[in-house]
Amino acid sequence: MTEIAKVALAETAAGLDEFWSQRVVGQANGSLLKVAKGIGSTTWHTHEDQDEVLMVTKGTLVVQLRSGNVTLNAGELLVVPRGTEHCPRADDEVHLLVIGRDVTSNAAGGKPDWSYQRGERPGGGPGETAEVNEAGGAR
Ligand code: NI
Repeated sequence: MTEIAKVALAETAAGLDEFWSQRVVGQANGSLLKVAKGIGSTTWHTHEDQDEVLMVTKGTLVVQLRSGNVTLNAGELLVVPRGTEHCPRADDEVHLLVIGRDVTSNAAGGKPDWSYQRGERPGGGPGETAEVNEAGGAR
């Protein structure tokens, strides 16, 4: 039986050790709900296997697309369709709720190398409130 409990998005994001890493905080209807925080930029990347919903809960995120930039402020979201190259960036710390079918793989997730310098993360599978390191394949 799954525990029914609310998720504090701000506190979860603030507690993340690494930028551009996703922590699974719930799942619904086959999608994972993931909290992340970002600063600076990811790398350009594409998710061939899933659409990616990016919702800003704090700060401002610029989603760079080959067709132009989309700026998201708190309370705004963007669906990045699968197969669409994108590169999120944030001048100041931004907090996100990311919704997608899976944790995006490292290769496809665009996570910059420097983010790893903040130390190892505990393991954990989707559906747990553990940070998921996609390095070994999250699922
Ligand atoms: Ni992405």
